Amino acid sequence: MSRVAHPAGPRHADVLPPDHPPMPPRDVNALDPTIWPRTAHRTNGALVLGGVDVRDLAAEHGTPMFICDEADFRGRCREFVDAFGDEAGVFYAAKAFCCRAVMRWVSEEGLGVDVCTGGELEVALRAGVDPSMITLHGSNKLMQELDRALAVGVGHIVVDSFDEIDRLERVASRESGQLTRILVRVTTGVEAAAHEFVATAHDDQKFGFSLASGAADEAVRRVLASDALDFAGLHSHIGSQIYDTAGFEVAAHRVLELAVRIRESRGIEIDELNLGGGFGIAYVPGDDPADIKVVAQNLREIMDSQCRAAGLAPPRLTVEPGRAIAGPGTVTLYQVGTVKDVDGLRTYVSVDGGMSDNIRTALYDADYTCVLASRESDAPPLLCRLVGRHCESGDIVVRDTYLPADVTDGDLVAVAATGAYCRSMASNYNHVPRPGVVAVRDGSSRILVRSETADDLMRLDVG
Ligand SMILES: Cc1ncc(COP(=O)(O)O)c(C=O)c1O
Repeated sequence: MSRVAHPAGPRHADVLPPDHPPMPPRDVNALDPTIWPRTAHRTNGALVLGGVDVRDLAAEHGTPMFICDEADFRGRCREFVDAFGDEAGVFYAAKAFCCRAVMRWVSEEGLGVDVCTGGELEVALRAGVDPSMITLHGSNKLMQELDRALAVGVGHIVVDSFDEIDRLERVASRESGQLTRILVRVTTGVEAAAHEFVATAHDDQKFGFSLASGAADEAVRRVLASDALDFAGLHSHIGSQIYDTAGFEVAAHRVLELAVRIRESRGIEIDELNLGGGFGIAYVPGDDPADIKVVAQNLREIMDSQCRAAGLAPPRLTVEPGRAIAGPGTVTLYQVGTVKDVDGLRTYVSVDGGMSDNIRTALYDADYTCVLASRESDAPPLLCRLVGRHCESGDIVVRDTYLPADVTDGDLVAVAATGAYCRSMASNYNHVPRPGVVAVRDGSSRILVRSETADDLMRLDVG
C-alpha cells in the first residue's frame, strides 16, 4: 500500500493539534484570489461578483442564493480544453452542478457532458447538447435510462456491472441505429481523497469492475463478444479533490496493463482511455491544487510513456472534471440572523440556509472560507462557527472561521467555492425551499434556476 501526501505543504490542520482553531487571518475582509471567483472584489466595502454588488443581488433575488460568475465558469472550461488539446476529450461532470444554462455554456466552450442519471441526461438534451457529446454513467442504470440513451444516440455508455452489460445487450439489440461506444469502468484499487491517494491490491466499492479480481478482463471479453456493443476503451475514476497526478499515474499504469492483456488475447487495442474527474480546487488558504496545464501535460506524459513501454499506440485521452469547472466560480450568499455567544465557548453565527443547501460540511467534514460580504469592518476577527437554521446540531456551514467581531443580524455573508456538489445535493429538509442560482456577468445578473417557494414545496403534497 502506498500513501502519498499532497504536495501543498502543511496546512494549519497538519501542524496544529486536531482541535486547535485555525490562525486568525491577517485581514478578515480580504478575498484570497485562489479561493474566490475570478471577478470577485470589493467596491465601497461590499463584495462584487461579475460586476454586480451582492447587496443588489440580495435585494433583487433574496437569500440564500448561489451566485455564479459566468466568466469564471466559462474560463475554466476553456482552460481544460486548451490544456488537454484537440485530440483529447473533456466531458463536464454534470453531477457537480446541472442546469440547462451551464449545459449550454460547456457545449459552447467545446466540452462534452458526462451524465449519471436519466434526469441529468434530460437536462443536457433539453439544453441542446449534441447527444454524441454525452457520456452516460451510473452504477445502476435503469432500463428506461438505457432505452432513452440508445434512442437519442449518446456518444458513450460507461458500463459498470455484468447485469448492465446484459441489460444493455437486450436494449441495444432492439435498436437498429448505430452501435453505442462502450467504455468499461475499471476499479484500479487507487483511491484518492483529501489530497492523498491510497493504492491497494483490492477494491471494496460499488463502482466498476475490479482489476484485481479479473472482473474487468471478463467485462471486456463480454463487451467484445457482443454484436450489439461497440467496445471503445477503458474508464477509471479514482476519487475527488486530487491535487497532483501521482494517483492517476498508478491508476493509468494498472489500466494500461489491462489494455496490454486485451491486445495479447484479442488482438485489439483500446481507442480511448478515460481517466475520470477528481481535479481538486482551493477551499481554504493553503490549498494548492496543481495548475490544470501541468496536470494535463503530466497525464499525457504518463500515458505516452506507459504506452511506449507496453508497445501500445496511445489511446485518445478523455477526462471528466466537475468540481474544477463548477466549484470555484460560485459563492453562496446568506443573510445573518441570530448571533449567539455560548458562554464564552464559541460564537455561533446563524444564516438563513444551512445543510439543505450545503451538505458537504456535515457529510465530508468539508472546509470552507467565508467573509462578511455586505460591508467591510475594522472590528477584530472573531473566531466563530457559521451554522444553518435546521433542526440538527450537525447543521454547520463553516466549522471554524473568522468574521469581524461586529457581525450582526442583517449582514450578508458569502461562502466561497460552493459551485460543485452544493446546489446539486440540496434538499428540502425541514421544508426549507432550495435556493436559486443567479449568474452574474459584465455587471448584470440573470436567474439560471429560480429559488423554490412554499408553493413549490406544497405542490407535491396531494393529501
Ligand atoms: C465517474 C466520475 N467522473 C467524474 C466525476 C467528477 O468528479 P469531480 O467533480 O471531482 O471532478 C465523478 C465524481 O464523482 C465521477 O464519479
